[in-house]
Amino acid sequence: MSRPDRIRAADLPPGAVRRVGDWAVGNRDGRYFAVSRRCRHQLADLSEGSVDADGCLVCPWHQSRYDVRTGEMVEGPHGFLGYHGPTPGYTQLIALLGRIARLRVRRAVRRGDDVVLE
Ligand code: FES
Repeated sequence: MSRPDRIRAADLPPGAVRRVGDWAVGNRDGRYFAVSRRCRHQLADLSEGSVDADGCLVCPWHQSRYDVRTGEMVEGPHGFLGYHGPTPGYTQLIALLGRIARLRVRRAVRRGDDVVLE
């Protein structure tokens, strides 16, 4: 069982993202990260997202992408509310806002069998 500030490393294999309290904690090929859980677009839970081939955290709702090292949105959403599809202009506008209003970032390190948030 994990406590709020840690998770067992075995529960966080490469590519996985999990919820640890208010944080989305993930594993990018052995490098762990922790960012605040709410997407800057429409507040989806980023702990239900995924890590893409570039190591970015992808939102589960409209696929906004985040640099987990800085919390910056590097690609805006493809859709809004229940619509999923192209949204030219809107995508770029939200991405611009997401570069300013970044996710919070916390250091996540391996300690023994656990990944601990510092
Ligand atoms: S809620 Fe995350 S991209 Fe829309």
